[in-house]
Amino acid sequence: MYRWDSSLETGHERVDGQHRQLFAAYYDLLESLQQGKSRDEVSKTVEFLTGYVAMHFDMEEGLQRESGYPDYPRHKRIHNEFKETVADLMRRFRREGPTEDFIASVTALVGDWLFNHVRGDDFRMAAFVKSQPRRERRDAHSRKLKGAASVTMLKYLIFDLDNTLYSCRHGLEKNVERRLKKFTAAFLGLSPEEAWKQRAAARNKYGTCLEWLMAEKGFTDIDAYLAAAHPEGEADTLPRDDDLREFLSGIKLPKAILTNAPKEHADLILDKLGVTDLFTHIFDIRQCGFVGKPHRKVFDNALSVLGISVQEALFIDDIPSYAEGFADMGGKALLFDENNVHNGCRAAKIRDLREIVKYIGRDA
Ligand SMILES: [Fe+2]
Ligand SMILES: [Fe+2]
Ligand SMILES: [Mg+2]
Repeated sequence: MYRWDSSLETGHERVDGQHRQLFAAYYDLLESLQQGKSRDEVSKTVEFLTGYVAMHFDMEEGLQRESGYPDYPRHKRIHNEFKETVADLMRRFRREGPTEDFIASVTALVGDWLFNHVRGDDFRMAAFVKSQPRRERRDAHSRKLKGAASVTMLKYLIFDLDNTLYSCRHGLEKNVERRLKKFTAAFLGLSPEEAWKQRAAARNKYGTCLEWLMAEKGFTDIDAYLAAAHPEGEADTLPRDDDLREFLSGIKLPKAILTNAPKEHADLILDKLGVTDLFTHIFDIRQCGFVGKPHRKVFDNALSVLGISVQEALFIDDIPSYAEGFADMGGKALLFDENNVHNGCRAAKIRDLREIVKYIGRDA
């Protein structure tokens, strides 16, 4: 079996970091198979691997597009084929379970493939990407040449979902918090108040409760957590919002969602509001292996998939630390604070979503 070692390092920091995670996810899967873990537990490792693979491929493809990598179409095709392979394996696992034969296939089709792909295609890609001037620098250079204004044109709007696309008065997120409090208390064997006190103390270090529980409390049952946070019918009271639809449709810039909730929840909310088709991408809590905003890599990943620099996006969120996270990277961020309860946030404040037009310029 191949082990991760420095000979697999391409020298591109972000690519290498994700590759390390990818191999770790693969070893986890193999280990759970070899140790005869339950189907449920194996499924979880497969699911994690599948999600991470998708996120990683998106990131690499973004790098390739951004740098004008000539072999991009072929690399992307190879990625797609591998995603198919993993999906096939998942189906096979559901049929036959962790047989010897299945484990051998995982080693050959996932382990060997990863190893060979990294050493071949990814090395070539990383060498090319590193040889290209960074996009921001390139853009700055061409601006100088043209003598144009130094304001970077916005290319994307990135919205938080909950309490941003709809008003907090609907109480949906409050209910999520209430359920998570109960869930966390039960898991830790504490009173809800005590559990939430601990959560509050860890808030600076971990953007989401899930990250905190996983990193410090030995929590692993992600499915149970997500099911508790987002039960069926959670958005039943959320009305369709045709005004929002009209407003967003009137802005030409493409739009994406960046949420710390799972994609199923985002799909449900966008569907309820009637705005699903207005967003090109949904970046959810799985995109970086359950690490959420305000971690830099969460923003980095979304930007890279969108193929834009941080200056080319406007990010809108109702949580001050999330908006600040983006602003700290050099991006334009707005704090949506409809009840005017936050003070001293480093991001500009808006009280109504419609105010974003002031920040996106006349061409948007
Ligand atoms: Fe890769
Ligand atoms: Fe690749
Ligand atoms: Mg929010």
